[in-house]
Amino acid sequence: MDSTILLTGAAGFIGSHTCERLLQEDHQIIGIDNLNNYYDHQLKHYNLKHLQKYNNFQFYKEDISNYNSLKSLFKKYDISRVIHLAAQAGVRYSLENPFIYQKSNVEGTLNLLELCRQKEIANIIFASSSSVYGDRNKVPFKEGEYVDKPVSIYAATKLAGEALCFTYSHLYDFNINCLRFFTVYGPRGRPDMAPHKFVYNILTRKTIKYYDVPTGQIARDFTYIDDIIDGIMLSLTYWKGFEIFNLGFGNPFRTIDFIRIIEDLTGLKAQIEFIGRQPGDVAITYADTTKAKTLLGFEAHTSVKEGMRKYLEWFKGYYNL
Ligand SMILES: NC(=O)c1ccc[n+]([C@@H]2O[C@H](COP(=O)([O-])OP(=O)(O)OC[C@H]3O[C@@H](n4cnc5c(N)ncnc54)[C@H](O)[C@@H]3O)[C@@H](O)[C@H]2O)c1
Repeated sequence: MDSTILLTGAAGFIGSHTCERLLQEDHQIIGIDNLNNYYDHQLKHYNLKHLQKYNNFQFYKEDISNYNSLKSLFKKYDISRVIHLAAQAGVRYSLENPFIYQKSNVEGTLNLLELCRQKEIANIIFASSSSVYGDRNKVPFKEGEYVDKPVSIYAATKLAGEALCFTYSHLYDFNINCLRFFTVYGPRGRPDMAPHKFVYNILTRKTIKYYDVPTGQIARDFTYIDDIIDGIMLSLTYWKGFEIFNLGFGNPFRTIDFIRIIEDLTGLKAQIEFIGRQPGDVAITYADTTKAKTLLGFEAHTSVKEGMRKYLEWFKGYYNL
């Protein structure tokens, strides 16, 4: 049995998969999540149900922006590492409700870092995002490039989170791995994300509101959940000061071609209404994974076709379609 890991965002998409892998490997996990209803919270309860069958898992419904209740948790347990995945996610919603992003992603991150300082917990993983690269044409995205032009409030708060991590690492010798995830999809995937919306609308014969023009300008480096979890697990064995790693497949797909793959796999034709690019969206995301490969041994193996086949199988079962 390994020492205790505090994992935030445990009921979420990436958090629940990360917990599951860690629990299977006998780690002690304290999971926290505020179970907010940004998307259907039935899915979060379903995610938690998978985790609560493990004896080495304990769950607390807590909000990371609540410093005092976090403090009592830090007092109660002998935590050795923190995997900080909780965040208000979503680019579009950040334009509607910017304050919640500041509260969860900036204040919440600061609370955790400050409590880690007080309890001398020096090993932390922070979930960052490809969105910090902004809207740039130069691809693939490399960790060493300047990132100073986030084009959504979500991206700005993720960048602020990275900056806070750097500062704590600099001041207090923390080891912090900031992992920039690239469009993650797979079983239990977030209902607000394009892969979910595409699949749901195709299976239910509804029209996809497609945030692009018919020629297809938007491309994403779609990355299967199991590959992301492999990356998180590898980063748990690498503690060398402050580091940023891209975790992505490294091969962007035009989203229009992503839809074509779902059509092939389902045998159904998508109905698409093209409504153009939305404010805050970037044209392309494309991970250069050389650093993650060299230092962590990370390599994403799951092709979009294979990943989507697995996602569809889960999707049809869960949503009864
Ligand atoms: N899914 C992706 O493609 C993607 C891409 C880049 C970065 N990320 C980052 O990865 C992390 C996990 O993303 P996800 O896709 O699993 O999202 P998710 O929304 O499924 O999971 C986040 C979890 O955090 C919880 N949460 C939100 N605010 C909280 C708060 N104030 N206190 C406690 N819990 C709170 C939510 O209830 C949710 O269960 C996030 O930090 C996200 O920004 C995800």
